[in-house]
Amino acid sequence: MPHIKILLRMIITGKYPNLRMRRNRGYDWVRRLVEENNLSVNDLILPIFLMEGKNKIRPIKNMPDIFRHTIDKLPSIIDKAVKAKIPLVALFPYTQNKYKDFVGSEALNENNLVCRAIKFIKNRYKNNIGVMCDVALDPYTSHGHDGLIKNGKIINDETNEILVKQSILQAQMGCDVIAPSDMMDGRIGMIRRALDKESLKDTQIISYAVKYASNFYGPFRNAVGSKGLLRGDKKTYQMDYKNKNEALREVALDIKEGADMIMVKPGLPYLDIIKEVKNNFKIPVITYQVSGEYSLIMNGIKKGIIKNDSILETLISFKRAGSTAIVTYFALKVLKYL
Ligand code: PBG
Repeated sequence: MPHIKILLRMIITGKYPNLRMRRNRGYDWVRRLVEENNLSVNDLILPIFLMEGKNKIRPIKNMPDIFRHTIDKLPSIIDKAVKAKIPLVALFPYTQNKYKDFVGSEALNENNLVCRAIKFIKNRYKNNIGVMCDVALDPYTSHGHDGLIKNGKIINDETNEILVKQSILQAQMGCDVIAPSDMMDGRIGMIRRALDKESLKDTQIISYAVKYASNFYGPFRNAVGSKGLLRGDKKTYQMDYKNKNEALREVALDIKEGADMIMVKPGLPYLDIIKEVKNNFKIPVITYQVSGEYSLIMNGIKKGIIKNDSILETLISFKRAGSTAIVTYFALKVLKYL
């Protein structure tokens, strides 16, 4: 197998004892000198959970150090992000049951929690920080699914029509980045066309193109109040974690439809997918290190099982795999390492 020999010659430039790999690891300065990847504040997207009311910051079960904020309390977290120059925050609403219904009507209420939060943030911080919003119905439906249900099925095209309206509404409120996380077919193209028609040409789209039906979303569903409600699972729209080629097809479609960036989600169990997407498409690839990953690591740290530094190790692994940026609940915690 000659091609393997050529490959080996490229990697191995010497032989023990002439070559000692440990020489390049001997001191901190040389390790810094030869490091291949790094994390900067520019790589971070900070998720923020919203809640109704005034003057409240409330903990979230199973997500140590992560809180829901009422809108007036947002500066307590966003000031830190702006000061550190984190480029983008992602907003997620905790919706009270009384605002949920079978079709997720609250998603289109121009006075809903997300809309008010966008206006507050953009008014206060202008373009010193970007705002990204999820497009999906799950915070607003009484059944916890991302789309409409008819005869027990999540219906694609009818859902898209609502997602388009939700996108336009959020963009009109000042949202910089629309992030469809629903995994319906064809929605990126429909949303792009609608935004353009409404003179919202500058609004960006980060497509959750590669979103797996994962077991790692549990704490998030609790955080947005959809956990107890969700009937069944999301396997008819989110991807099967046994598949890789399918991820490339999803990405190819969404790029054609007008996505500016692509999201892969979750993170750690999908490093191979990040790499594959990055190698095949020259588009920014965002990784979402999801709530279950956060909770596992944080609980491990709290119990003294693993060290704090494991946080940075996971984030660098995303960079090594090819991520352009990372949505992570650790965004504020890692600043001290940067
Ligand atoms: C909703 C949405 C989910 C997440 C982001 N947007 C949950 C889901 O699809 O059920 C998960 C984020 C996390 O776990 O941190 N469409």
